[in-house]
Amino acid sequence: MVTNRTFTMIKPDAVANGHAGAILDRIIKAGYKVVALKYTKLTTETAGQFYAVHSERPFYKDLVSFMSQGPIYAAILEKDNAIEDFRKFIGATDPSKADAGTIRADFAKSIDANAIHGSDSDENAAIEGNFFFNNFERF
Ligand code: GTP
Ligand code: MG
Repeated sequence: MVTNRTFTMIKPDAVANGHAGAILDRIIKAGYKVVALKYTKLTTETAGQFYAVHSERPFYKDLVSFMSQGPIYAAILEKDNAIEDFRKFIGATDPSKADAGTIRADFAKSIDANAIHGSDSDENAAIEGNFFFNNFERF
C-alpha cells in the first residue's frame, strides 16, 4: 500500500545545535505537508523499542543512548512518493557520504549524530507514525 506519507525525527544533535527550525523550514519548502508534529524526548526504553530492528547490531547500544540523550521533533509528512523522495532529501546515513545539499550533508556531524531520521518503507512509516501519534494528533 502506498500511503504517500513518511515519518521523520529531527534527532537530538540537530535540536541541541539549534538546527530544528532550519530543517523544518527546508522540509516544508521541499513540498512536504506536516500532518502531525510533536516536540518530545525518547527514554532508553522507548528508543530501544523504536530501533528494535537493530537490536542485534553492534551499534545498537550507542544508537539507543544517543537517541535518548535529548529532545527531538517527531513528525508525519505527506507528499507524493514521500518515502523515496525524503530518503534522497535527507542523504546517506553516514554524512561523509551524503550528497551535497542534503540535510545530513549540511547538518549532521557523524554516523551517530546524523541529524534526522526518515522511514525506509510505507509499512515502517505507518508503524513509526503510530508509535508517536494517536488519531487525535494527526490530520
Ligand atoms: P534512520 O533514518 O535513523 O533509521 O537511519 P538510516 O535509515 O539511514 O540507517 P539505519 O536504519 O540503517 O540505522 C539507524 C541508525 O543507526 C542510523 O541513523 C545511524 O545513526 C546508526 N547506524 C547505522 N549503521 C551504523 C553503523 O554502521 N555504525 C554506527 N556507528 N551507527 C550506525
Ligand atoms: Mg532506518
